[in-house]
Amino acid sequence: MNNIVLIGFMGCGKSTVAKMLKSKAQMTIIDTDKEIMKREGMKIADIFAKHGEEYFRNLETNLLRELQTYENTVVSCGGGIVLREENVEELRKIGIVVLLSASAITIYHRVKKNNNRPLLNGNMNVPYIQKLMDERKPYYQRAAQVTVEVDHKTLKQVTSEVIEKVQERG
Ligand code: S3P
Repeated sequence: MNNIVLIGFMGCGKSTVAKMLKSKAQMTIIDTDKEIMKREGMKIADIFAKHGEEYFRNLETNLLRELQTYENTVVSCGGGIVLREENVEELRKIGIVVLLSASAITIYHRVKKNNNRPLLNGNMNVPYIQKLMDERKPYYQRAAQVTVEVDHKTLKQVTSEVIEKVQERG
């Protein structure tokens, strides 16, 4: 299988779908957040607090540049990776870019109990998620080569759809 790059808003299911792709299509997983946490020896929230968002975004861009030699890999990306225009090109050099798209309510139910997302801490409510999502929509659309809707589907169904759509594109 060609490399698959999963993008989408926080909590849309990228990590879970990546794990399912790993078992279903025998792919290796790289989770950009996890890789950055491992290298920095800190949680994402602590990286933001200690060094700021710009520093974190630089780590993301540098990591994407490293991943281009990987094969049969699913790259699960942090939700804000699409914000930098240069990253879009880097994502496409890695593989086919698949957007997992969900409604603000779906996202809210998935993220509400988690406090490791600095951009949502103190803003854990549907209107805020909707606002951030609306701001980001053009960035996700600019980056996506394939889109899979997540609402009202199991993540297993979403995974099968990702495989189907990626194979359709060859
Ligand atoms: C972010 C999403 C997070 C993480 C960081 C910033 C964002 O990843 O990279 O908190 O800007 O949307 P997930 O999408 O895996 O939650």
